[in-house]
Amino acid sequence: MDVLNLSPRDVTPDDYLDVSVLLATAFDGPDEARLVEQLRKDGDIGLELVCEDQDGIFGYICFARMVSPFGFWSLSPVAIKRAYQGQGIGDQLIRRGLDGMRRAGASGVVVLGDPDFYTRFGFSKAAAAGLDSPYSRAHTMVYPIAKGANEVTGRLVYPPAFSVL
Ligand SMILES: CC(C)(COP(=O)(O)OP(=O)(O)OC[C@H]1O[C@@H](n2cnc3c(N)ncnc32)[C@H](O)[C@@H]1OP(=O)(O)O)[C@@H](O)C(=O)NCCC(=O)NCCS
Repeated sequence: MDVLNLSPRDVTPDDYLDVSVLLATAFDGPDEARLVEQLRKDGDIGLELVCEDQDGIFGYICFARMVSPFGFWSLSPVAIKRAYQGQGIGDQLIRRGLDGMRRAGASGVVVLGDPDFYTRFGFSKAAAAGLDSPYSRAHTMVYPIAKGANEVTGRLVYPPAFSVL
């Protein structure tokens, strides 16, 4: 696959079932699919993209509105179909997603994940150092977009749907 020519598109309601199946399979359980379903019901999704080929959807990324800090979004979740993993697709989809959030005027993006993976995109633990989180600080990173977003302080308050996790 030519990953540099990946053409993610916006999710439509016709994709919801396939996205849930992809998430449940990639994460080995229903939690992330439930999270996304609840985020949609709550109107807390800013951007969700899928990649597809003739066999269907093989990639998905979602950005959810943080309650706090204002203007911040959470990258959660991202998933690539198992048979398509390890080809650079997740890397490209995350870069496209971050570009989309930048164009949409986001101040910053938060992620909870493996620093070895996410720092390559510009996520930084140092930029999240002033933020209290209900989750692991060691895995909390910020991708700063607006001026000052790399030294934001306060509490990370995730949208209500995160209580399903
Ligand atoms: C994590 C995931 C989205 C990455 O997508 P992918 O298409 O397999 O990743 P890529 O091929 O673009 O990998 C890019 C690089 O990141 C590395 N990488 C992939 N997943 C990683 C992980 N979980 N931790 C650390 N590094 C990882 C790869 O080894 C690769 O490194 P390289 O460029 O040095 O070879 C995908 O593996 C997946 O869906 N996993 C299950 C769901 C999940 O864990 N999602 C992330 C948490 S929200």
